[in-house]
Amino acid sequence: MSTHNVWTHKGTFLLAAVGSAVGLGNLWRFPYLAGENGGGAFLLIYALTIFAVGIPILIAEIMLGRNSRRSPIMGMRFLTRTHHTSRSWESIGWLGAVSAFLILSFYSVIAGWAIHYTWQMLTGALAGADAETIAAGFDALLASPALLTLYHTLFIIASGLIVGLGIHGGIERGLRVIMPALFVILLVVLGYGAVNGDFAAAAGFLFTFNIADLSLEGWLEAMGQSFFTLSLGMGAIMAYGAYMSGEASLTRTAIAIAVVDTAVAVVAGLAIFSLVFGAGLDAGQGPGLMFVTLPLAFAEMPGGALIGGVFFVLVLGAAISSSISLIEPVAAYLVERFDLTRPQAVFAMVVASWALGLLTVVSFNLWAEASVFHSLFGRSAFDLLELLTNIFMPLGGLLIALFAGWALTHSEVMKEMRTNEAWFGAWRFLVRFVAPAAVSFVFLRAIPQVEG
Ligand code: PFF
Ligand code: NA
Repeated sequence: MSTHNVWTHKGTFLLAAVGSAVGLGNLWRFPYLAGENGGGAFLLIYALTIFAVGIPILIAEIMLGRNSRRSPIMGMRFLTRTHHTSRSWESIGWLGAVSAFLILSFYSVIAGWAIHYTWQMLTGALAGADAETIAAGFDALLASPALLTLYHTLFIIASGLIVGLGIHGGIERGLRVIMPALFVILLVVLGYGAVNGDFAAAAGFLFTFNIADLSLEGWLEAMGQSFFTLSLGMGAIMAYGAYMSGEASLTRTAIAIAVVDTAVAVVAGLAIFSLVFGAGLDAGQGPGLMFVTLPLAFAEMPGGALIGGVFFVLVLGAAISSSISLIEPVAAYLVERFDLTRPQAVFAMVVASWALGLLTVVSFNLWAEASVFHSLFGRSAFDLLELLTNIFMPLGGLLIALFAGWALTHSEVMKEMRTNEAWFGAWRFLVRFVAPAAVSFVFLRAIPQVEG
């Protein structure tokens, strides 16, 4: 069964893809990983991967979606048949579905923290609070499995309802407001941080590149983050590409997504690190970084309760437009393959991800240190999911690059890219050789170093 539905408006794909890309990855994950991995060195590897590897693979992934006009798994099956290539390429679809399921499980828990802070801001609970009070409040949140589970449940239900009822349309229109507003508020926080915090230290931290600061696992995290932040290598973009109008330019669209996404991450990073260094907080404190620094700024800035409330609502909007893109490809597959109704398919995916999410919940409290997980894997379940994400997404991207680079013919690519021979040649060189070499290089060096 093929999807005949094409988004009629040329800009709709771009909006949906930016909605998928911009999310907790930019605001929460980028600053926390950069903070743990030497700042500038992390940013350097991250940015190099985005531009030399991410953009070419983004083009490839949209191309596979638009060319097959099917959900990722069925689309890869269709493409391997029409190209008489090995069915093992279907693993691109499978791997993507598994990644989506793993990512949604922890994404929803973290988005739940934003629900908590939306509430805290709007009720003025943190007005005037100092750094210690805010840090203690965050620790109390993490210490409560019940509260974390409640928020996780609310977020995943909201995401599931949007996809299950097929009402992304509303979200996409909302994104026209949410995205610019989020960017403006980030600039306000950056301005506040520059005046009241330590902008020079933040800029020094993020833009001084000392590669020796980066551990080998840091390399893997930087590369994984560049795929994560672009929603790349797991079928989300392919699923949206299936609906993309034939006229829109692949290259320009891919560059726009990468530039917007990177700008949001860098502004968020500068704002957060200005506050971190200004308040003498620890840049490497881990996943809580955004949730202890931004509420602190809002607690102290004039009108902060309102600005902070609006900010966290926008964060939730950005998170939900990303989480629906995690559900979409898996749900579309279940519908196409098992003839489930859309609500049934979404329900199955969401319930399974919700249950897996409980492992992330307990990673911050009951199983924070000594647990079965630590004895088996040497890390918490949340850390293991983060590690798997950093491996699976680039791996998916690697396979997409190889398939688009080697299996698709010149005329098929040209039909989608409609570009000149020079850019075609450059793109094909990037997906055939550069992207696979870069991903393999980081894997071969870093994975043996990952300690169990
Ligand atoms: N790109 C999203 C973010 O940066 O928050 C996360 C994400 C969404 C990853 C969708 C993967 C995906 F398929
Ligand atoms: Na992102």
